[in-house]
Amino acid sequence: MQIDFSNRTVMVTGAAGGLGTAISGLFAECGARVALCDLKGAGEAAARLRELGYQAEGFSFDVRDRNGIEEGVSQIASSLGGIDILINNAGINGGPEERQTVDAYHDDLWDRIISVDLDGVYNCSKAVLRSMGNGGTILNISSITGLVPLRNQCAFTAAKAGVINLTKAMALELAPRGIRVNCICPGTVGIAVTNTLWQNSDTMKALLAHIPMGRQALPEEIAGPTVFLCSEYASYITGAVLAVDGGWTAGGYARNF
Ligand SMILES: NC(=O)c1ccc[n+]([C@@H]2O[C@H](COP(=O)([O-])OP(=O)(O)OC[C@H]3O[C@@H](n4cnc5c(N)ncnc54)[C@H](O)[C@@H]3O)[C@@H](O)[C@H]2O)c1
Repeated sequence: MQIDFSNRTVMVTGAAGGLGTAISGLFAECGARVALCDLKGAGEAAARLRELGYQAEGFSFDVRDRNGIEEGVSQIASSLGGIDILINNAGINGGPEERQTVDAYHDDLWDRIISVDLDGVYNCSKAVLRSMGNGGTILNISSITGLVPLRNQCAFTAAKAGVINLTKAMALELAPRGIRVNCICPGTVGIAVTNTLWQNSDTMKALLAHIPMGRQALPEEIAGPTVFLCSEYASYITGAVLAVDGGWTAGGYARNF
């Protein structure tokens, strides 16, 4: 059996970003019609996929905007067909300079992160589920910070932990409708933002000390498990939380000392 998403429509949020582009590309390679959705539009990423002969279209909306999402979902249905698979991938975090302990944390940063990273998953899932019917898959991108908190990132950590339990709640509720809901927790992935962090040697050493595999993930290494969990190979998997982190959350120390 090969992974084949022919005649399936996949909606990917945050599709203009590092992970979203890789996830959209792999679904397209597997035959899906891909709706690339992003706050800043994803027209260029969609055009690149069309140039390769794939079916892809870009849509511009904000995962915080419930009315806008409803509209976006019906636009996707009109141009690519009803959504069979939803990838809740859009997410933000504060930059290193904004990170603070809880007592000093900026309220507006807390609000922004929770509204995109947690509310956004709820908003998009709700809108898509109304038209999904029976059968389908939702895959939420959380983070290992949802499993193992990092200091000075309380909003990101809380939002991503919320995504994990929202995944499980939806899995319970939706199993009778034949809809599977799973979650991936990436460790650190080599995209533009994390590559900037990575070039700083102190940060690199600190991160490496937690990663038994001794390197960041490539975006494609998150896209692979995402596609797997949405495929028929994962037909008995729902409510699962898969860390894709080079061993980070296996525990213990990655280095001898
Ligand atoms: N890169 C990592 O190391 C890493 C690690 C763990 C988890 N993650 C998670 O992976 C997901 C993808 O992140 P990425 O690394 O590709 O980052 P990224 O910044 O490259 O991409 C995120 C995308 O989300 C979009 N977005 C932001 N706010 C939005 C909104 N309100 N509505 C719609 N789109 C919005 C952005 O425009 C951007 O294109 C996020 O949920 C992130 O938390 C990333």
